Amino acid sequence: MELNRRTVIAGAAAAGIAATTLGGTAHATGGTAHPTGGRTPVRKPFGTLADGTEVHSWSLSNGGTRLKVLSYGGIVQSLEIPDRHGRYENVSLGFDDLADYVAKSPYFGALIGRFGNRIGKGRFTLDGTAHQIDVNDGENTLHGGSRGFDKRVWDVEPFTKGSDVGLRLYHTSVDGEMGYPGTLRVKVTYTLTRHGDWRIDYEATTDRATVVNLTSHVYWNLAGEDSGSIHGHQLKIAGSRYTPVDSGLIPTGELARVAGTPFDFRRTKTVGEDIRVAHQQLLYGQGFDHNWVLDKGITAAPVPVATLRDPSSGRTMTISTTEPGLQFYSGNFLDGTLVGSGGTVYRQGDALCLETQHFPDSPNKPSFPSTVLRPGQTYRTTTVHSFGR
Ligand code: BGC
Repeated sequence: MELNRRTVIAGAAAAGIAATTLGGTAHATGGTAHPTGGRTPVRKPFGTLADGTEVHSWSLSNGGTRLKVLSYGGIVQSLEIPDRHGRYENVSLGFDDLADYVAKSPYFGALIGRFGNRIGKGRFTLDGTAHQIDVNDGENTLHGGSRGFDKRVWDVEPFTKGSDVGLRLYHTSVDGEMGYPGTLRVKVTYTLTRHGDWRIDYEATTDRATVVNLTSHVYWNLAGEDSGSIHGHQLKIAGSRYTPVDSGLIPTGELARVAGTPFDFRRTKTVGEDIRVAHQQLLYGQGFDHNWVLDKGITAAPVPVATLRDPSSGRTMTISTTEPGLQFYSGNFLDGTLVGSGGTVYRQGDALCLETQHFPDSPNKPSFPSTVLRPGQTYRTTTVHSFGR
């Protein structure tokens, strides 16, 4: 953790330099200059859905980070940060067109809900009532169901507050949507700080007991989205245990130690170092596709839990969160069939996801931290991405 904390400070300092260097120059995103450096987000049409709903893209920048967000799925279409020479790249996989997001996106950049990752057989029992939710991954439910939050059009409200710039995204998920009980009112706030950090605050309330587990599904490649394998990226995760899975990628319920296994990222190592070890868990996921149990547990404020570094560009990202789990997915199911926003084909291992969350299948695992939300309670989690170079 000590190293992580230093990395955050170093990252902020680097971003601070970027902010000074870029201060006053014309950012590609345009917008009205804000007295403290940020700019009012700018909205543009991005396309129309089959039912006639218009989708917009929002561009914002602050502290040297540039973000493009779609009202469809709250999708991060691009996130640009400088390398050690000040050169900007989009470090997040995505598409140019709305049609591709609708037809074939493996959750590129999207908000995930109501429930991140898998629920075994799409079933759970809450307060004695059995619920069958939409099944969309073999016999299981993945990322909320076939029409999860990644496929909903969110109401977007831009804001500037002090030196922060951001977007508030709202979605109301009606009672019974995808089979989940309760009307869930969700607010997600994307903030770019003056240091160039991207912060996500999730909030939700319900009118009936339900389960909730929200996350963000950005596919990171810190060398640039079109630059091939991330196996040379260096990763550190502050988790001494992980949740092993069965062949359907449903946790067994066990919290296994990472010590002496390919899952030990407590000391920085490259993603590729152990990815070809013949470990049953890596065979199930075709690589890393597991939930790490973060040593810090659930915290009131975000704590640094993972650091990613691309040695070629010098770009770094530190993730801090209030959440108890982190899904590290090494882009195993990218199979060379998708053409990304840079015009190149995405292949296995061209990006990785680091999804902060409660543990997969928690509604069926009483020993895992609870994902139940009841009327009168407010679900609140925060995750911060800090960039450096
Ligand atoms: C899951 C993978 C899944 C991917 C979808 C990840 O969060 O862990 O198993 O294939 O999302 O793109």
